[in-house]
Amino acid sequence: MTQPPIFVEFRGVAMNAAYKPVTLITGASSGIGEALAEVFAARGHALVLAARRVPALEALAGRIAALGQARPDVLGIDLALPDAGERIAAALEARGLAVQNVVNNAGFGLLGPAADSDRATQLSMIDVNVRALTDLSLRFVDSAATHQGGILNVASIAGFFPGPNMAVYHATKAYALSFSEALHHELRPRGIKVSVLCPGPVKTEFLDRAGIPQGHFPNVLMRSAERVARDGYDGLMRNQRVIVPGMPNQVMTLLPRFLPRTLLMRMVGGF
Ligand SMILES: NC(=O)c1ccc[n+]([C@@H]2O[C@H](COP(=O)([O-])OP(=O)(O)OC[C@H]3O[C@@H](n4cnc5c(N)ncnc54)[C@H](OP(=O)(O)O)[C@@H]3O)[C@@H](O)[C@H]2O)c1
Repeated sequence: MTQPPIFVEFRGVAMNAAYKPVTLITGASSGIGEALAEVFAARGHALVLAARRVPALEALAGRIAALGQARPDVLGIDLALPDAGERIAAALEARGLAVQNVVNNAGFGLLGPAADSDRATQLSMIDVNVRALTDLSLRFVDSAATHQGGILNVASIAGFFPGPNMAVYHATKAYALSFSEALHHELRPRGIKVSVLCPGPVKTEFLDRAGIPQGHFPNVLMRSAERVARDGYDGLMRNQRVIVPGMPNQVMTLLPRFLPRTLLMRMVGGF
C-alpha cells in the first residue's frame, strides 16, 4: 500500500516532506555548467541537469554516476520558452524533487553591432540570460529556505561595463549582476545564500557560438571552466555576494570606478 504524502508547513506553505532536495543546474550540457555539475556532484549534492541537448546531459549524468555519485536527473528544456519555469517546476514535482539550490548558468552571447545583428537572437538572449534566470531565482525561494540552500547566478565581468559590439549581452549580464546582488540582500534574513559568479573569458563553446574569434581576449584573463566552477561553488557555500575568479579579472571589474565611461567603451568595443 502506498503511503500518503507527509506535508509540513513552512511560512504558511504546505510542502511535501518526502520530496528529495536537489540542485538544479541550467546549461549543464557544456562548458561552465558541466564543470559546475561535476563540482556539486563531487560535494555530495543530488542534481537535476537542464539544457536543450539531452544526449549531452545524459552523457554527463553517466560520467557522474560512474564516479560512484548519485546519478543526476536530466531535464530537456528550452529556456527561451515563456513557460520554461513552469515546465521545470512541473517536471520536478512529478519526479518528487524539491529545489535546494538553483544554479542559473545557461546563457549565450553574440558579437557584433546590435543594430546590424539578428534581432530575434538578441531578444532570445534576453529570454534566457534575464527572464529565465529571474523566474528560476524567484520560483523556488520557499523550497530553498526549507532546505537551507541558495541561488548561484552566472553573470560575467561583462556585467560591470557597457559593451559596444556585444551591447545586449553586456546589458543582460549587468541585469544578472544587479538583480543577484539585491536578491542576496533581500534573502539573507531568510537564510538563503545568493551569489553571482562573474567569470572573465573561459574557453568553452560560448566563444564559438557568440562568433568570438580565437585570441580576442588577452590570455591573462582566461580561466578554465573547472577553476571557475570551483570558485563559484566555494563562493556560494560561504554566501559571497559577488565572485570574480582570478586577480586580473578582479582588476577589470574595478576599472569603471577610475576610467571615464567613453574610454572604457573604446577599450571594450575596440573602436
Ligand atoms: N565562456 C565565457 O567566456 C564566459 C564568460 C563569462 C560568463 N559566461 C557565462 O557562463 C555561462 C555558461 O557559458 P559557457 O561558457 O559554459 O558556454 P557554453 O559552453 O556555450 O554553455 C552554455 C550552456 O547554456 C545552455 N543554453 C543556451 N541556450 C539555452 C536555451 N535556450 N535553453 C536551455 N539551455 C540553453 C547550453 O545548452 P544547450 O545548447 O544544450 O541548450 C549550454 O549548456 C553563460 O551564462 C555565459 O554567459 C561565459
